[in-house]
Amino acid sequence: MKMKTEINPWGSMEVKDYAKLRDEFGIQPFEPLLKRMKEPHLLMRRGIVFGHRDFDKILDALARKESYAMLTGLMPSGKFHLGHKILAEQIIYHQKVLGAKVFICVADIEAYNMRIDDMDKLREIAINEYLVNYIALGLDPKNCDFYFQSARSKDPDKANAFYRLSGMAAKKVTFNEMKAVYGEITPGKVMSVMTQVADILHPMLPEFGGYRHVVVPVGADQDPHIRLSRDIAARFEKEHNFVLPSSTYHVFIKGLKGGKMSSSDPYSYIALTDDPATAKSKIMKYAFSGGRDTLEEHRKKGGVPEIDVAYQYLYSQFEPDDKKMQQIYDDYKSGKLLSGELKQILVEKMEAFLREHARKREHARKQVDKFLK
Ligand code: TRP
Repeated sequence: MKMKTEINPWGSMEVKDYAKLRDEFGIQPFEPLLKRMKEPHLLMRRGIVFGHRDFDKILDALARKESYAMLTGLMPSGKFHLGHKILAEQIIYHQKVLGAKVFICVADIEAYNMRIDDMDKLREIAINEYLVNYIALGLDPKNCDFYFQSARSKDPDKANAFYRLSGMAAKKVTFNEMKAVYGEITPGKVMSVMTQVADILHPMLPEFGGYRHVVVPVGADQDPHIRLSRDIAARFEKEHNFVLPSSTYHVFIKGLKGGKMSSSDPYSYIALTDDPATAKSKIMKYAFSGGRDTLEEHRKKGGVPEIDVAYQYLYSQFEPDDKKMQQIYDDYKSGKLLSGELKQILVEKMEAFLREHARKREHARKQVDKFLK
């Protein structure tokens, strides 16, 4: 029997076959859109962003020189690591290269209900881990609305509009539909879902600029929320003039040991606050290798880049030059490049990045207040 992929946004998800997932859920492949983009992001060119819903509508809007909004959210959960970095890069790309107004939602209501019931701690993590790293990676306070689900705005008209929308969204979905999308339903899940629907749709409200198009870049686990938000957007026809929100999907960055990259296991991730020496030793010790057991065997059969974590980090984040990347692939595959040597290439890139990033983070700390209006 063919198994259907289950997507649980609050579980832990490992996807073996992204093309299959795309087909099952009606997500479109991203690749055909590349030819329409002047400067597609590396993550898009390399297929890390593997799918979309209606992103062509965003490209149409851009072609008509219309403004659009990008909205995404973060669940504050611990250290900011390489898996989070790829979303930050997309946010900054929408803001700086494509000129979007960006909305970044701290999902503290969701995190409180589903993970850590300490609002002060959630706020602290959101600012010191996420926001500071976003700024250090290049997020600009201009054209950026960074907010908490628990405190949408100091402007009462805006706050009212946001909470009114989440309250009214509940009317647009049935219990059976929610069960079909999310499985077992709890009050915390209902609250998180209705809040996330408001997150996704509210940039289209007049109080927030009345943007016509919104794109939501997310990991594949968030697609249930996207589908529901699109359904609900259509059902507001009487009250609002919403367009269906667009979305893009990125793959999950593999953990060091080959499994999930998870904030709860420090040896599964490289955090952006790791010092270069720690990062180096983690990679050398833990990074899952696609190399062979013995030198002779490796020289003869070559390595397997497809399962090699060091290779994948270079490919997704640390070697932007396509020619160099191809060379690394060829050399590793042919057995010329050894696993230790491949790791060394990554270590050097990573050390340089982390050193520079630590410096930028110091400067970023001073910018935080500009984002917390
Ligand atoms: N649920 C998301 C997560 O688990 C966070 C989130 C909240 C979000 N609101 C959002 C993501 C709106 C995209 C759009 O990470």
